[in-house]
Amino acid sequence: MSLSVIILAAGQGTRMYSSKPKVLHEIGGKPMLAHVIELAQKLEPVETCVVVGHQAESVKTQMSDYAVQWILQAEQLGTGHAVQQAIDAISADRVLVLYGDTPLTRVSSLEKLLNASATKKLGLLTVEMKNPTGYGRIVRDSTGKILKIVEEKDASDEIKKITEGNTGILCAETTSLKRWLNNLENNNQQREYYLTDCIAACVAENEPVASVLIADENEVAGVNNKLQLEQLERVYQLQQAEALLIQGVTLADKNRVDIRGALACGKDVFIDVNCVFQGDVQLGDGVSIGPNCFISNTEIQENTSVLANCVLEDSRVGESCNIGPFSRLRPGAEMSAHSKAGNFVEIKNAKIGKGAKVNHLSYVGDAELGEDVNIGAGTITCNYDGANKHKTIIGDNVFIGSNTALVAPVTVADDATIGAGSTITRDAPEAELTLERSKQITIKGWQRPKKEKR
Ligand code: UD1
Ligand code: CA
Repeated sequence: MSLSVIILAAGQGTRMYSSKPKVLHEIGGKPMLAHVIELAQKLEPVETCVVVGHQAESVKTQMSDYAVQWILQAEQLGTGHAVQQAIDAISADRVLVLYGDTPLTRVSSLEKLLNASATKKLGLLTVEMKNPTGYGRIVRDSTGKILKIVEEKDASDEIKKITEGNTGILCAETTSLKRWLNNLENNNQQREYYLTDCIAACVAENEPVASVLIADENEVAGVNNKLQLEQLERVYQLQQAEALLIQGVTLADKNRVDIRGALACGKDVFIDVNCVFQGDVQLGDGVSIGPNCFISNTEIQENTSVLANCVLEDSRVGESCNIGPFSRLRPGAEMSAHSKAGNFVEIKNAKIGKGAKVNHLSYVGDAELGEDVNIGAGTITCNYDGANKHKTIIGDNVFIGSNTALVAPVTVADDATIGAGSTITRDAPEAELTLERSKQITIKGWQRPKKEKR
C-alpha cells in the first residue's frame, strides 16, 4: 500500500506572541516544521504535502531545501478544511496526517499506527493524559470500540472526564477520507471544519477505527506557547544527551549540554558543563571539551583538549592540540596537529602549522604559519588597511617576539626571529634577527615631578 503525508502548518500560533510563524520556531536549532518533514520523509511517502496559510511565503522560503509540495490554505477554517485543500494532490492509497507544531514524534510510533491501520479505513494515534484539557477526547463504547472524537470546546462535563486524548495524528484510506471530508460541516462551537468529525463518519459506515495508544506524552505534545516550546526543547536536549551517554560519551551533567544540530563523537570524549554545540560538530577519539564552550560547525581531531570558555566557529582543529582557556577560533581557523591557541587569542581565516604556538593575547587573521612557529604574547597581524584584507606568511620555525605588529602583506621567512615590540612592514629574511625599535636611552639625573605638600 502506498503512502502520502499531509502536514498541517497553516495556523497562526497567536499565543507565541511572535512575528515569526509558529512552525518556524526551533527545537534543537531546527524549525519544528523541519523536524516533522524529516520524520515524514523517513516513511518514504509518495509525496509530502505541507498545508501553509499564515505567513505562507516565509515558511516556504525558510523550508526551501525540503522536497515537499506546498498547499495554500488561504483562510484557516479548521483542520478538516486544511486536509481538504491537500487531498486532491494525494496520489497514494493511504494518507497520514501530521501537525507542523508537534515535533517530537518517533518514526516507530508512526510505523505502529500504519501497521495497526493496514486493513482499516482509519487509524488514530491516541494518548492517555493526566490533564487532557484542550485535547479532543476519544469516545468509545462499552466494548472499547471507538465511536467519535469530541473537541474540548464541544464536550459535556461527562466527556471532559475522558482521559484518552486525540493526538491529531491519523492515518486514512484516501478515497474514504475524500468522501468524509466532502460531508464535513462546521456546526460546532468554533465554526470550524473538524478533521476529527471523520471518525464518526467512518463509524457511521460500520467501519472499525484502529488506534494505537502512545506511551510517552512528549511524543505527541504540540506547541502553542513559549512555555511548551521550552518544555519540548528540554525533553529533546535530554534525549540527545542520553543518546550520547549510551554511545559512551562522558558528560559532566546531561542537563547542561545543548546540541543544536548534529554532534558526532569518537571514543572517550569528555564534555564538561554548559557547552553548546551548533550545526555539524565532530569530536575525535579522546577529545576533551572544558566548561562553557560554544562550538559551531567545527571538526576537532583526536586527543585535542579545548579548555574552559572557548568559542569555535567554522574551524578545523587537528589532533593533540591545546585550545584555550578563553580562545576564539573564527571561521577559517585551521589548527594543525600539536598546535596551541592560548588565552585571549583570536584566530580567523588562518592556518596554524604543526606544533606552532600562539599562546597569549594575540590576533592572527588572514595568515599562514609554518611548523613550530612561536608567536609571542600580544602579537597582532595587521591584516586590514581600512578597505582591503592582506595576508601574513610566516615560515617554519619562526620566532616572533612579544608585542609585534605584522603589517600585511608581509612575509617572515623560515627560521627568522623578530625582536619584541617591532612593527614589521617589510619582508623579514630567513634565519636572521629582524627588529624595528627606537634606541633605548637613559636620561641621567632626571627627576620625577613631585606633588607639593600642603
Ligand atoms: C486538534 C484536534 C484535537 C487534538 C489536538 C491535538 C481537530 C478539530 N482537533 O485541536 O482533537 O486533540 O489537535 O493537538 O482537529 N491547522 C491548519 N489549518 C487550520 C487549522 C489548523 O493548518 O485551519 C493546523 C495548525 O497549524 C496546527 C494543527 O493544524 O498545526 C492543529 O490545529 P489546532 O488549531 O492547534 O488544533 P487544536 O484545537 O489543538
Ligand atoms: Ca493545537
